[in-house]
Amino acid sequence: MNQKIQELENKIAEAHLGGGEKRIESQHKKGKLTARERLHFLLDEGSFEEIGMLVTHRSHEFGLQREKYSGDGVVTGYGTVNGRLVYVFSQDFTVFGGSLSETHAEKICKVMDLAVKNGAPVIGLNDSGGARIQEGVVSLGGYADIFYKNTIASGVVPQLSAIMGPCAGGAVYSPAITDFILMVENTSYMFVTGPNVVKTVTHEEVTSEELGGASTHSVKSGVTHFSCVNEIECITHIKKLLSYMPQNCEDNAPVYPYEMSDESRPALNKVIPDNPNQPYDIREVIQEVIDENSFLEVHKNFAENIVVGFARIAGRSIGIVANQPAFLAGVLDINASTKAARFVRFCDSFNVPLLVFEDVPGFLPGTDQEWNGIITNGAKLLYAFCEATVPRITVITRKAYGGAYDVMNSKHIGADMNYAWPTAEIAVMGARGAAEIIFKKEISEAENKEAKWKEKEEEYIAHFANPYRAAERGFVDEVILPSETRKKLIRSFAMLENKAVNLPRKKHGNIPL
Ligand code: HXC
Repeated sequence: MNQKIQELENKIAEAHLGGGEKRIESQHKKGKLTARERLHFLLDEGSFEEIGMLVTHRSHEFGLQREKYSGDGVVTGYGTVNGRLVYVFSQDFTVFGGSLSETHAEKICKVMDLAVKNGAPVIGLNDSGGARIQEGVVSLGGYADIFYKNTIASGVVPQLSAIMGPCAGGAVYSPAITDFILMVENTSYMFVTGPNVVKTVTHEEVTSEELGGASTHSVKSGVTHFSCVNEIECITHIKKLLSYMPQNCEDNAPVYPYEMSDESRPALNKVIPDNPNQPYDIREVIQEVIDENSFLEVHKNFAENIVVGFARIAGRSIGIVANQPAFLAGVLDINASTKAARFVRFCDSFNVPLLVFEDVPGFLPGTDQEWNGIITNGAKLLYAFCEATVPRITVITRKAYGGAYDVMNSKHIGADMNYAWPTAEIAVMGARGAAEIIFKKEISEAENKEAKWKEKEEEYIAHFANPYRAAERGFVDEVILPSETRKKLIRSFAMLENKAVNLPRKKHGNIPL
């Protein structure tokens, strides 16, 4: 008996060493944690239960039969984060560079299947040299199995991908299908083809970091939602992110205790500048309206003309989408539209109510935007809002112009409550442009053209640069004092708590991708 117990203990100890002490040391020298250390920081103490620790690969090619490691380069299982069940896989770079074999893929698929059956999030910690080169097509098949399961699980359970090392080739497509990607600065990268191939094909010389590092993907491509300074920050972000979401699509996000007190926020009465063209930071409004320190901004460095993120209001999770007048005047362009559309769809998939702050001069004009498809991409945001059945509230703080008025969660496309501040301007376009078009003849015939133009501009402002025409129609439910916004939102989100909408039966819609 003792001998048998010793045998098992030896096997466990061997599995815990992954690819061996030397490789663990080399991983640490690169400033990276090992697969098991990462899980240790992620999961509640003592909660991890491993699945498939003794799995080894089945390959006999290129001498692989002589080199086997228990677990085959990925640690899989389940545990809890702040007491809530999660399924995890953590790739072990010390075993064949974390490369993906047939069995490595099977282990990942097994936890994903369990996650879907039991309704809990999947967290993948990626650190891999890609397909196990010695295995050829079976490894590629393993990737495809994962992509398929990612897609089937999409919208059923939240899926989070942390990139903590290389993630190259087709391997990037698994994280890309998941809901959120987090990257670690200077030690992780994602690209479809690496710098060497890029140099051969396009003659561009670029480093891995420039091509696909955390800063590139958080600022330029928008592939990653979070850029983290180190692995611990990345793991902390994963935990925080989970706190805003439910376990699955049938569930609601956890509610945090909150005691009501004086909910008026007088500072909001001073946020909007007297000059309607002067910028202000919409984050000031967000911070005043939400529960203290509850904002987790998503995609912070990408398409800064729109701000999206999670927050809490009276202890309940909400998703915020807000035009940012402090960046490009808060205009909607291709990147802002796709960024916000994806966020809206996540919130709707997982029952997180939506709050929209609107101050938008319209869609960005120009050949660059038109030739790159602002029509299709802007439609993504429109479609995402139209389709969303979660409670939806809009607060128009200032400009709500043109098509952007419709798109930004207007009453017409299914928003439940639409508020406007007295500073709101709801019109087809800005007053100067509008006056030029509709009073063209009068302006051109006037002796003092500029004075006439100004007069007509003032006329247009008096008529439309306010929230009252929209309120008369019921397109705006109430014009409110900015200081009362938080109070109104707490009440109206509570009022909408049991909202139930059934869309017509269909296979799935055809969002303009
Ligand atoms: C098998 C691999 C491997 C791989 C690395 N290793 N990548 N083994 N298959 N894909 C092994 C190395 O042999 C080495 O083994 C150990 O992992 C560490 O690798 P190093 O090269 O020493 O580490 P480092 O210098 O940090 O470089 C990491 C790396 C590099 C940049 C990831 O290893 C690399 O370029 N690997 C190949 C990447 C690649 O081309 N993969 C296929 C992509 S195509 P020892 O025994 O020395 O520890 C792809 C298609 C997916 O993935 C398609 C899905 C549809």
